[in-house]
Amino acid sequence: MSTYGNKTKMSPLLVLLVALLLSASGTLPSEAHSARGHHALKSKTFLSPAILLRPGSVSNKYYFDIAFPRGHIALKSFNGEVVDERGVPVPLHEAYLHHWLVEPYYAPKDAADEAKNLSKIIPDRNSGVCRDTLRQYYGLGSETRHTATWVPDPYGVEAGDPAAPPEGYEERWLLNVHAIDTRGVADRLGCTECRCDLYNVTVDEDGRRIGKGYAGGLRCCYDQTRCKAVKERLGHVDVMTRKVFLRYTVTWLHWSSKVLPVEIYIFDATDKALLQGKSEPACHVEYQVEECSPEKRAKNDCFHVQMAKQVVPRGGDIVYASGHQHAGGLGTSLHGEDGRLLCESIPTYGEGQEAGNEAGYIVGMSTCYPKPGTVAVRDGEVLTVVSNYSSEQRHTGVMGLFYILVAKHGQQ
Ligand SMILES: *[C@@H]1O[C@H](CO)[C@@H](O)[C@H](O)[C@H]1NC(C)=O
Ligand SMILES: *[C@@H]1O[C@H](CO)[C@@H](O)[C@H](O)[C@H]1NC(C)=O
Ligand SMILES: *[C@@H]1O[C@H](CO)[C@@H](O)[C@H](O)[C@H]1NC(C)=O
Repeated sequence: MSTYGNKTKMSPLLVLLVALLLSASGTLPSEAHSARGHHALKSKTFLSPAILLRPGSVSNKYYFDIAFPRGHIALKSFNGEVVDERGVPVPLHEAYLHHWLVEPYYAPKDAADEAKNLSKIIPDRNSGVCRDTLRQYYGLGSETRHTATWVPDPYGVEAGDPAAPPEGYEERWLLNVHAIDTRGVADRLGCTECRCDLYNVTVDEDGRRIGKGYAGGLRCCYDQTRCKAVKERLGHVDVMTRKVFLRYTVTWLHWSSKVLPVEIYIFDATDKALLQGKSEPACHVEYQVEECSPEKRAKNDCFHVQMAKQVVPRGGDIVYASGHQHAGGLGTSLHGEDGRLLCESIPTYGEGQEAGNEAGYIVGMSTCYPKPGTVAVRDGEVLTVVSNYSSEQRHTGVMGLFYILVAKHGQQ
């Protein structure tokens, strides 16, 4: 996943476009309500700026200062999905949601258009462990409609602490949405897996040559690239341009001493640093699954296992955990140093055509809600993250991530 921190070369046109889109973003009418016995639980639904898609096109944009609840709050859930201009959910086989990410940052209070000069802003990352590659507070992809994000009581993700920003700065939120319009494309799976041959690109977004060894992934499906179309559909492309939005619902409570804060950690099955004796994490986020050999196929053994060891800096009770995989994924797990299972997260595949149940796509990931006090990790414990995929066919640009919330404890 590329990060906005090294994207200082945004074109003026793009900046203008982002500004126009930002001004068009709005809030849907909704009201505070109480749910799950919380009288104080608030909920609000927002729309991202409009995302313009044409058959085959990719949109990967960073929206700064998005609509978000203000004040010192405890975030309890963040749910999103892609909808059209009428608010109707758009299925993944039309607009594939590769990922969306939400994260806070600090901007100078007087900065009106921080997208113009990114060196002015300070990222406010999660607690680890990949630092710059996976610093989001929330982030999901195709599974967004059926993956629980609820933080169990009495815990919450702290946001908007007025004492947190440096002097003269304030907290704002950034949304990154990467969507691929696969209407009329020659190879739907190949386009969603960002296969380089289908995108006909030889250099990445930063102008660096893409080597032959890189068959697919985000370096080949950046903003404004185009996936190969079925020929006869090309004539209809312009009339098929559409606007979609990420519609997101945030629930929260006002911050109080009754809420216990959690740390957010994201583990990545591609990080081989510790296994190679290096201390700095090397999170590649994406990896490739090769098609299994004829011998393995004959033995019905077309599985690929990706595994990494990473250190959790501060321990505590795990109160929520969930994995992230792409199509072909069979399950992920997170283990403690002694091998004990901390959480297993299994994908659900759709079976139909409608939004939320699209055949061939991961439409949900199972989550873990351990009873408080039953699943804990130690400060500095080495965890193992495992990601299994089917290797019946080759997959490019896949992921094996594990997101956990750990109850904060006092310094030891
Ligand atoms: C961007 O902001 C930085 C820090 O405030 C400043 O030093 C730099 O001159 C600005 N660059 C432009 C092009 O405005
Ligand atoms: C691929 O890109 C090259 C150079 O950028 C261009 O000449 C060629 O027409 C493209 N091929 C297709 C099928 O779009
Ligand atoms: C992953 O694959 C290994 C080896 O086949 C298996 O033991 C493990 O149970 C699998 N884990 C998940 C979560 O699917």
